[in-house]
Amino acid sequence: MSAPTAAGAPTTAGAPAAKPKVLVVDDQPVNVKALGALLQPEVDALFATDGAGALAKAAQLAPDLILLDVDMPGMDGYEVCHRLKADPKTADIPVVFVTGMSQTQDEEKGLALGAIDYIAKPFQPAIVKARVRNHLELKRSRDALVESYRRLEATQASLVQAEKMASLGQLVAGVAHEINTPLGVALTAASHLFERAGFLDERFRSGRMTKTDLESFLSLHKNSSDLVLSSLERSAVLVQRFKQIATAQAQDSLAEIDLGTHLIDAFGLWASANPDRDLNADVSCPPDVVLQTFPAALTRLLHTLFDNVAAHAYPGGETAAVDVRVDITGSGVELAVADHGVGIAPEAMAKVFDPFYTARRGEGFVGLGLTIAYNLVTSTLHGTIVIEATPGGGTTARVNLPSRVTSAVR
Ligand SMILES: Nc1ncnc2c1ncn2[C@@H]1O[C@H](COP(=O)(O)OP(=O)(O)OP(=O)(O)O)[C@@H](O)[C@H]1O
Ligand SMILES: [Mg+2]
Repeated sequence: MSAPTAAGAPTTAGAPAAKPKVLVVDDQPVNVKALGALLQPEVDALFATDGAGALAKAAQLAPDLILLDVDMPGMDGYEVCHRLKADPKTADIPVVFVTGMSQTQDEEKGLALGAIDYIAKPFQPAIVKARVRNHLELKRSRDALVESYRRLEATQASLVQAEKMASLGQLVAGVAHEINTPLGVALTAASHLFERAGFLDERFRSGRMTKTDLESFLSLHKNSSDLVLSSLERSAVLVQRFKQIATAQAQDSLAEIDLGTHLIDAFGLWASANPDRDLNADVSCPPDVVLQTFPAALTRLLHTLFDNVAAHAYPGGETAAVDVRVDITGSGVELAVADHGVGIAPEAMAKVFDPFYTARRGEGFVGLGLTIAYNLVTSTLHGTIVIEATPGGGTTARVNLPSRVTSAVR
């Protein structure tokens, strides 16, 4: 059999592996010596001749295995084992009892206290060596597993962090890009206007200003001011949308709502805020469904989805209609907001939640509606949202919500 590898001591290339440490505890020095001599070449044997000494050495030297005599004056082996297992520093050190009492009852007691094995005295050297080797190997494998798990957790945490940073970076880049366009236009128009005003001023002061100079300046002034104004308005709209992402739950507090009533009210609010848009809603919800949730966030989510149905689902001018349907699930409700409009092309489906994805850039759309919806559902409402759509087959937003949200942010 090959020599056991070190337990608990990682081996680095080139460095000899440290020997595993075994603490031998027995009140009879002759037994301690015999066991030590037996194990010594393969392991580092440490010794204690009473319970207190055993506890102190275990805590101080962190052995990989303890061979513990049961029958000792004062604190017996059972008590030592009990205390070892009660101390987080020593609880994981495997304990093997070495004892002259071989009744089953004693074995049961030792194992119940957390020992992993029993060796009966008088012991067979070959058997003791083999068992110690096996237990050390087991300890080594367990330590390696614990270490891999720890590394895995650390890797997972850093991956999650990296993903968060990446999407934050993506969002910041998107915000900068979107704001940059209108601000750039406003800046160009304003500086052109400034330059032309300087020119006109100079003509005026030198008494050379003609009527045409003034007329052309006034016309330029009007165009440039229009551009500056519309660009700044666009910037203000963008900033407003960005704020909606950041303050998804700021002014909202938890409340119990009757879902059916809430859905009808949310649609009523949307319709009165959008008098020029024609959208019919059919709400179906079982009676007395009560949710503890953030009501304003739920309303905002519904409004975002209604906005999309009204804006995108029926481009041909047909009467726009949306079905809002609630089904009870094991943990809460499934809310389906469905239209029967044009649907979404398969290649766009993967992008609909992405910040700034819109199929209608340049028509006043920003591409943040579904990003806001996603954030509202996952972080404020503690639920999930998926969009199902086929070209020509309509679009359904399927939202799963828990019956009770208990804390603010997830
Ligand atoms: N009900 C729907 N029917 C058809 N297409 C939809 C529907 N809902 C969303 N879409 C598609 O998904 C895209 C992304 O929607 P999202 O709400 O995120 O942005 P947007 O509506 O284009 O812009 P914003 O909401 O910021 O003004 C839309 O541009 C549209 O192409
Ligand atoms: Mg939208």
